Amino acid sequence: MRLRIPQDIEYKDINDPAFGRIASLCAEYSLTVVRGLEPFYALYKAVEYLIRHEIPGDFAECGVWRGGSVMAAALACMHFGDTDRRFHLFDTFEGNPEPGPDDLDWDGKSPHGAWKQLTEQGKKWGYGGPLEAVRRNVFRTGYPEDRFTFVPGRVEQTLPDAAPESLALLRLDTDLYESTAHELETLYPRLAVGGVLIIDDYGYYRGARKATDEFMDKTGAKILLNRIDASVRLGVKIG
Ligand SMILES: C[S@@+](CC[C@H](N)C(=O)[O-])C[C@H]1O[C@@H](n2cnc3c(N)ncnc32)[C@H](O)[C@@H]1O
Repeated sequence: MRLRIPQDIEYKDINDPAFGRIASLCAEYSLTVVRGLEPFYALYKAVEYLIRHEIPGDFAECGVWRGGSVMAAALACMHFGDTDRRFHLFDTFEGNPEPGPDDLDWDGKSPHGAWKQLTEQGKKWGYGGPLEAVRRNVFRTGYPEDRFTFVPGRVEQTLPDAAPESLALLRLDTDLYESTAHELETLYPRLAVGGVLIIDDYGYYRGARKATDEFMDKTGAKILLNRIDASVRLGVKIG
């Protein structure tokens, strides 16, 4: 499947051939490009910043779909000269579970009907492909294969047991309230000071936003979650 990158958006301020190459290689493997290239560019610049400033720790993504964001981050690591970082890929590799009552989109619509219909047809909502296909996709980057760890299953079950000790980059993209809350609870404390947190669904899914706001309020975490596009938010942990 080839995803279409909106042609009516101009990127005159981004004159970076390496980014262009990485974005074209990874676009068909990521859902983030459906709104434009901002999420990829933010990720690319986050990787540059983490490497340049030697912020310690691994990279993790919860909700990898076909692996496109991981591929983009791995290629950015290679471009910026660091192939030591470990990548942790958390996913059911079977699509999204049943959405709960908090999981409305920004228009207040529930995806439950779509989930139910697909399930009844024997299909999977939000399914990017089997683990083997995602493995092949990320290996295609040429990043050292032994640096990737794949953690199949619902994050509510796999975390914290499979959680890396320390993280420099935490990208959350499992769409829904319960999983986002669980990820923040277990992984945010492992994010290094100076590390980057990306919440992909904050603008699109009310459940992801609610989980994030509740976590920040409860823990008093000070982080400016900046708007990257209509859905994605990015912040740097300061303490
Ligand atoms: C929106 S897609 C991720 C998109 C991807 N990050 C990209 O760049 O294109 C959501 C993914 O989250 C996974 N997922 C949803 N809920 C999950 C859960 N509770 N535990 C693990 N994975 C989950 C789905 O299987 C799906 O692959």
